[in-house]
Amino acid sequence: MIRLRSVELALPRVQVAAEFLQSPWGLIPAGTQGGVLFFRGTGSHPYILSLREAAAPAVRAIEFSGTPAEVAAVQARGSAAGVPVEKFAELDAPGGGSGFVVEGPEKQKYRFIAETAPVAELPPERDRPLQITHAVLNSVDVAACERFVETALGFQVTDRTKMMTFVRCNRKHHALAYAHSDVSSLNHIAFEMNDVDGVMRGIGRMRDAGYDVVWGPGRHGPGDNVFGYFIAPFGGIVEYTAEISEVGDDYKVGSPEDWKWPPGRIDQWGISTKDGTRIPAAERVFRFI
Ligand SMILES: [Fe+2]
Repeated sequence: MIRLRSVELALPRVQVAAEFLQSPWGLIPAGTQGGVLFFRGTGSHPYILSLREAAAPAVRAIEFSGTPAEVAAVQARGSAAGVPVEKFAELDAPGGGSGFVVEGPEKQKYRFIAETAPVAELPPERDRPLQITHAVLNSVDVAACERFVETALGFQVTDRTKMMTFVRCNRKHHALAYAHSDVSSLNHIAFEMNDVDGVMRGIGRMRDAGYDVVWGPGRHGPGDNVFGYFIAPFGGIVEYTAEISEVGDDYKVGSPEDWKWPPGRIDQWGISTKDGTRIPAAERVFRFI
């Protein structure tokens, strides 16, 4: 099964970001390799986020992993679609693995890694992230991004709202979403907790550390997941989430008309507030290079 595995970020003052990601955010250091810092959750991935020192914030890659056969199938699909595929023999990262990189219509880099050895899960903790479950990307041409991931990667559209298009690479409602914007950037990264209790405990831990939730807690429409969003000290937005829905081939792709909120509502519970002054700027910090 192809799974979203990690996001590689480049940014100034990596050590400051690393400290935040460990505490209060809750990631576990997974080593340094080739000048890159790696962090994992308790799930079965060797790492779920990596950081590289740079003068300006950027998203270097969004990584997916699968068996060698699954990754080869995506590569063949990309090649058949006429997309340039850049292969690599061994990734310089925990777990290694061969694979390839393809570039999306707005310079987004999607890296696919063939995993040959399973990674053991760590003992679950009720308030520590397991893995990342989606990344949302701001896009100036969402339709082009949809076409690319469907044609070149074999992903499927799950839902479209007025704001964004959600796409999946397995039964999880979405691994990626593309938000309509005037820039191409990282909108946010979502870290999956065990359950709603984990999300709420994470929010409390962040509040204790002086980080107010900028949107949430609430439960989304598409994906049905519970959420709490924060602006990290390195400028980007990070989300705790849980209970994202699973869908199959029989799922009816939703349209903007299917996903309208009653007046005054921006989530299912009706209790979340959203910081409309700080969030838009934070969604534009990490660009694609
Ligand atoms: Fe999200």
